[in-house]
Amino acid sequence: TERTFIAIKPDGVQRGLIGPIITRFEQRGFKLIAIKLVTPGKEHLEKHYADLAGKPFFPGLIEYMNSGPICAMIWEGREVVKTGRILLGATNPLASAPGTIRGDYAIDVGRNVCHGSDAVESAEKEIALWFQESEITSYKASQFDWVYEKP
Ligand code: GTP
Ligand code: MG
Repeated sequence: TERTFIAIKPDGVQRGLIGPIITRFEQRGFKLIAIKLVTPGKEHLEKHYADLAGKPFFPGLIEYMNSGPICAMIWEGREVVKTGRILLGATNPLASAPGTIRGDYAIDVGRNVCHGSDAVESAEKEIALWFQESEITSYKASQFDWVYEKP
């Protein structure tokens, strides 16, 4: 089954959005298989956003991500990477449709409350960066027989 890495950024945690963001993924039918609050430090955050290292906003991005605890999660389900990005909305919240997380809770691209992996391959890399194998659970969600026609 497909997995994605979703992280509620420091502004999302501080603004009390952990519950509402988790609720959107839960209510869609996805399964939470790992979760923790972490402040991993700049070096780790620079690895996470390594692809953006040359961008002018990179130092500000790292400072933002290092400004408080992050709620790191792994969600599982059919096409969860792509669908997770749709739930998040566009990178720039001003371009995000209402009904999306960023479209409902954010304004500034530099304070867009939540991260989601952009491809299956990056999801696998990010999961390996943020989680130990022992932190990832495995269970049958009782609702799955109702969420999927063929599980
Ligand atoms: P993530 O889910 O956080 O990875 O966002 P994304 O995949 O929608 O966008 P991207 O990976 O390109 O950028 C990562 C993060 O850098 C964004 O979520 C923003 O917080 C920040 N960012 C991206 N572009 C800009 C920009 O033009 N200005 C500023 N200030 N921040 C930016
Ligand atoms: Mg990204």
